[in-house]
Amino acid sequence: MYVLGIETSCDETGVAVYHSERGLISHFLYSQVDMHNEYGGVVPELASRDHIRKLVPLIKQTLNESQLQKSDINGIAYTAGPGLMGALLVGAATARSLAWAWGIPAIAVHHMEGHLLAPMLEDNPPAFPFVALLISGGHTLLVQVEGIGRYQLLGESLDDAAGEAFDKTAKMLGLGYPGGPKLAELAEQGEQIYKFPRPMTDRPGLDFSFSGLKTFTLNTFNNSQKTDQDKANIAFAFQQAVAETLSIKCKRAIRQTGIKRLVVAGGVSANKQIRASLREMVELENSEIYFPRPEFCTDNGAMIAYAGCQRLLRGEHQNLEIFARPRWPINELL
Ligand code: KG4
Ligand code: ZN
Repeated sequence: MYVLGIETSCDETGVAVYHSERGLISHFLYSQVDMHNEYGGVVPELASRDHIRKLVPLIKQTLNESQLQKSDINGIAYTAGPGLMGALLVGAATARSLAWAWGIPAIAVHHMEGHLLAPMLEDNPPAFPFVALLISGGHTLLVQVEGIGRYQLLGESLDDAAGEAFDKTAKMLGLGYPGGPKLAELAEQGEQIYKFPRPMTDRPGLDFSFSGLKTFTLNTFNNSQKTDQDKANIAFAFQQAVAETLSIKCKRAIRQTGIKRLVVAGGVSANKQIRASLREMVELENSEIYFPRPEFCTDNGAMIAYAGCQRLLRGEHQNLEIFARPRWPINELL
């Protein structure tokens, strides 16, 4: 079964074709980062308009590259949420219309389920069950995964998501958008001068909170000389605090569930320091760890094509309604 995947939930237009037996056939991504950079963050209306401009040409390009005709496609998967309403609607309306015109089913995919299943696109995919740490710009989730659609939420962020904390901290340090990769780069020049708090690790539970850490970082910055080296040292301490906090919570989740297999995905999972810190922890816990390749950590069409294919194989698909849901808790997925 050939599935066309479409991702337009935020600031990247992603398109891919996945085949149920042959695997990933091809994938393309158009990032709007340069456009939003000027404004210091995503401007939703501009995002929607750019998806409209880029999506259809990207679909044509992906089909060409795959050497497939539209008649070869057996189903269309699109991100239906969570995300920006206008941006989601571009993908949803395009996917729905194409599916109707081509006489094939369309399936609405949950963006975080896409992230969660992204490591399945790699050569050595994780077996079920596993614990998933999903760290993106909008979400920080710990999920117990028994199989496709069998998700139990173990913990989540009570305020800022991990990526959001990176982006806001980066903005504060004057690093531009998106802040995560820029802050990570700066942290490489940093030295161990400060030690920042590891929020909510001194009490039981698997929830996260990054907003206090952000304020602590701001205060430290304001009280410093604000030199380039100060900034790098602060970036280093911030990143180290996030990495260690995530490791502590994942260790707890592994011990609590007895599941010695951890999957880490979402944009922030591209972070080298966070990867290293989690790898070190799982080794000590005699557990396994799985990451998507860096380009599939951030938003992409491949993960949506994969997740949609699994659901279509189970016989799922939706009626003709153009379905988009900007807020969509992952534990409401079946
Ligand atoms: O998953 P994603 O592409 O989009 C959402 O679903 O939100 O994640 C984007 C987030 C942004 O906050 C970005 O700053 C962060 O992932 N990010 C990183 C890195 N690469 C992307 N954060 C820290 N280190 C990175 N290397
Ligand atoms: Zn995402």
